[in-house]
Amino acid sequence: MNLRRTLETRLSRALSDAGADGPALVAPAGKPEFGDYQANGCMAAAKRAGGNPRQLAERVVAAADVADLAEPLEVAGPGFINITLRRDFLQQHLGEALSDERLAVPPAEAPQTVVVDYSGPNLAKEMHVGHLRSTIIGDALVRVSEFLGHNVIRQNHVGDWGTQFGMLTAYMDARDDDAGDGGHRIADMEAFYQAAKRRFDTDEAFADAARRSVVKLQGGDEHALSVWRDVVDQSLRHAQEVYDRLGVTLQREHVRGESAYNDDLPRVVADLDAAGLLSESQGAQCVFLDGFTNADGEPLPVIVRKSDGGYLYATTDLGALRYRARHLHADRILYVTDSRQALHFQQVFAVARAAGFVPEHVLLEHVPFGMMLGANRQPFRTRDGGTVKLTDLLDEAVRRARALVDEKNPNLDAPARDAVAEAVGIGAVKYADLCQNRTSDYVFAWDKLLSLEGNTAPYLQYAYARVRSIFRKGGGPEQIAADDEHRAAEIVLSEQAERTLAVTLVRLPETLETVARESMPNLLCAYLYGLAGAFMAFYETCPVLKADAAVRASRLGLCDLTARTLATGLDLLGIETLERM
Ligand code: ARG
Repeated sequence: MNLRRTLETRLSRALSDAGADGPALVAPAGKPEFGDYQANGCMAAAKRAGGNPRQLAERVVAAADVADLAEPLEVAGPGFINITLRRDFLQQHLGEALSDERLAVPPAEAPQTVVVDYSGPNLAKEMHVGHLRSTIIGDALVRVSEFLGHNVIRQNHVGDWGTQFGMLTAYMDARDDDAGDGGHRIADMEAFYQAAKRRFDTDEAFADAARRSVVKLQGGDEHALSVWRDVVDQSLRHAQEVYDRLGVTLQREHVRGESAYNDDLPRVVADLDAAGLLSESQGAQCVFLDGFTNADGEPLPVIVRKSDGGYLYATTDLGALRYRARHLHADRILYVTDSRQALHFQQVFAVARAAGFVPEHVLLEHVPFGMMLGANRQPFRTRDGGTVKLTDLLDEAVRRARALVDEKNPNLDAPARDAVAEAVGIGAVKYADLCQNRTSDYVFAWDKLLSLEGNTAPYLQYAYARVRSIFRKGGGPEQIAADDEHRAAEIVLSEQAERTLAVTLVRLPETLETVARESMPNLLCAYLYGLAGAFMAFYETCPVLKADAAVRASRLGLCDLTARTLATGLDLLGIETLERM
């Protein structure tokens, strides 16, 4: 059950029964003395209805139908309602979660088709840190939505078209001539791009060939296209290696790059024209819409076709938007890109709406994020100011994690230490990013993200391994068999620390729903961090293995729920857990 939503629904109903309208605004309580949740909506509702908020709150309390979930409600201060959950409700709910694969997380009541556009690297180059945030934030959102039962369609809108591809295909061609048949593999995408660029800048004849290549590509020349396909294919293979290593669920079939919309672009422009939206400005085809002005207050156009006939990033996005609405039947489309593209998406969405490219009900959402900064608070770069390749960043993460494991756990054998280092290193990099409010910039600091204390992946991975170790001690060498037994256990909450842990555990469903609705993976991170803390406090005050049989079974049940909630949450963030660290 999604407890917060259930309370919200029931108290909002009570509010209207009490003669006022509006949301009950149920939220986790700010302080323990206010109970577990509080409803804050009475003040605003009373103001709208012109009454006394405290009296309204009293009427809401009298009308509310929540006796199965909560102790008698209490009115506090100017009109807050404090809600304390009943112990038997908590016990029963956790008992259900214990025997349920999904930990009692209900599937969405109205499942949507959600298209998530993420990663989208420009293919000519090697994947670098600039691609990290979109890739891992997008993947976490996809996993959470899928877990909640939505029909999720991943779209990797890669940059696989444009003038730089003329340069690359011309370079590939020239290289083939030099190297004979064997010259076709690109070992290092970045080096290949740099070499092509150098030749383009210094060799006039080559620059001409590159420009001719662009024209040939656009004209559909078979040879040019086949070389282009080869370059794209090799870049995608490189990107796939990075996705696999990162534990990102994107596959080749999710790639639908800019080039896929080429043929549709003349039609996009013609349809904008037919809708009466097109005007010409300095030879370019533009759409002017109300509400978009530049810094000087002059109307700001969306250019859809340049004076030389070329199409733009925005034109392609209009084609993509229409495809997603009409062919993928999206109810909701998320675009996970950095915040500098905010205006681009506002414009594209507005043009698409004005032109009727998307049905009214389809939600279009830009999911923006800030920058990854170095210790100097400048964009994260190598020591000599170059872009940091993702492969190098991940290698360093794993190297550092390995040094940490060597130090902390020298008894593990080498292959086990390698596995821990890979999971911890990659997990730490991803978590450091996901735990931030995505809209702000954040400083990437190795020491902080690999720390075993604080809101980090290693801390949570360690908390998980520690809970699991209880089961090893508990059941002897053939520990895991015990799992089934206590999944049928009755949960009995007697100590305060047990209750606090229980209240945290029942908040998993509402947390996941909020993460999906607001596209905020950091809320899941904060939840897991809080859960690990609640577990540690419980484990310090409540003996588990030494307790009497019934208490022991109940507490093992709480341990099991904690472990599975941590593992599920980390998995939804795309982070691995380990049985031993
Ligand atoms: N290739 C773009 C970039 O590197 C990101 C693509 C985002 N998706 C989109 N539909 N425009 O900035």
